[in-house]
Amino acid sequence: MYIGLDLGTSGVRALLVDEGGVPVDAQEAHYQAAHPAPGWSEQDPAMWVAGCRTALAALKAAHPAEYAAVRGIAIAGHMHGAVLLDSSDEVLRPCILWNDTRSHAEAAALDAADEVRGISGNIVFPGFTAPKLVWVAQHEPDVFARVAKVVLPKDYVSLWMTGTCASEMSDAAGTAWLDVGARDWSDRLLDAGSMRRDQMPALHEGTGVIGPLRDALGDELGLPRGVLVIAGAADNAAAACGVGALKEGDGFVSLGTSGVVLAARDGFAPDAASAVHTFCHAVPGRWYQMGVTLACTDSLNWLARITGQGPAALTAALGNDVRAPGRLRFYPYLSGERTPHNDAQVRGGFSGLDIAHEVPDMTRAVLEGVCFAQADSLKALQATGANPQSLLAIGGGAASSHWVQMLANTLNLPLDIPARGEFGAALGAARLAMCGVTGADPVEVMTKPEIARTVIPDTSLVEACAEAHETYRAAYAGLKALQ
Ligand code: XUL
Repeated sequence: MYIGLDLGTSGVRALLVDEGGVPVDAQEAHYQAAHPAPGWSEQDPAMWVAGCRTALAALKAAHPAEYAAVRGIAIAGHMHGAVLLDSSDEVLRPCILWNDTRSHAEAAALDAADEVRGISGNIVFPGFTAPKLVWVAQHEPDVFARVAKVVLPKDYVSLWMTGTCASEMSDAAGTAWLDVGARDWSDRLLDAGSMRRDQMPALHEGTGVIGPLRDALGDELGLPRGVLVIAGAADNAAAACGVGALKEGDGFVSLGTSGVVLAARDGFAPDAASAVHTFCHAVPGRWYQMGVTLACTDSLNWLARITGQGPAALTAALGNDVRAPGRLRFYPYLSGERTPHNDAQVRGGFSGLDIAHEVPDMTRAVLEGVCFAQADSLKALQATGANPQSLLAIGGGAASSHWVQMLANTLNLPLDIPARGEFGAALGAARLAMCGVTGADPVEVMTKPEIARTVIPDTSLVEACAEAHETYRAAYAGLKALQ
């Protein structure tokens, strides 16, 4: 038995899988992020530990025999967060999360520094880890002076489990301190961010063994002695492991809080200027690229909040009537945008509002706007050489068949909908745990999910979607000028 933990921004999911990699059960615990100032987003790492305890206890209660047979645990985690530890591994301040934009000026300065894009293969985005430390150095010098180690959120949980500070390539790639091609910390990048190699955790591949679960903790959690904690992965890399997206041509589009279009790559082919992220995959010798839309289901959730209707009710009101886009446009830059604009300041809006428009027209425009944003990401990926011929559609938004059809029309790609079941980051983590403990080949273990149906682009609407996408793209300059 293996456990994959998916440490998310709003909760943790603990998935138990058997020796054949088949899911047995999953349990969750929830928590929230704090936003103490505009653009800030923080979490106390103690909440993650408490969440893991709750989710693991629920697994134990539901499946005591299987739980007692666990051999390995791996964690998938939200990326880029900065957990600052002192020399006793005590947390110095709340973790600054991936969606915190306070360090946009520091990010721009680092991004402009010599060699930085070249070595990291990426723009230094405001959400990345390195600019956060520059911000702390400037605004909280007493804290900065005491930083002995910086770890990523999921690596804090594995530190709690093992007593060992360790990380792995896929998450480290999002710090802007890693030489992503060489899969090693870069002294030049660390120096640019006023950091040192001794402040970095040891690096593994995602299947690497960090160490055994601490005996005392294992006893407390009711896990057997000798359970191995495996390095795990960043959430998107883990999701790619969960859906078997390991090699060139494989990929997915995720309609989650943030939207992701991800393509697995056999080699390291960065194009930082495109605002595509080029990160190490969780398995050795592979990389992946992705475009990120910051407010994906978040855009729909925003409309739900404003209208007082639930997101599911909003999409259900559209039925199956997928049309060509009208003149009403929505720009989903509610939290700025990563791909393709790298713009933390821009904000969203509607254009083309008419006195006759009703809530369903606005819902349609919001869903279309997110589709256009994801088409921007796909175009950016295609420009770097990634060429997926179809994509898996995953994430909460993929439950809306209207939205998925719209997305297929806008991306002009067939979208495969997995059959119900586990195929997310928690499964990817459990698969990494299995490979780490048994030495199994990830290619054998990380198979693709069963496909329930494939959504084919409606050829009568593809051209209209492409034309509407052009007007959407043209509007960005106007929105930027309004900043
Ligand atoms: C990726 C990113 C998000 C977080 C949160 O670059 O910032 O996907 O990992 O899930």
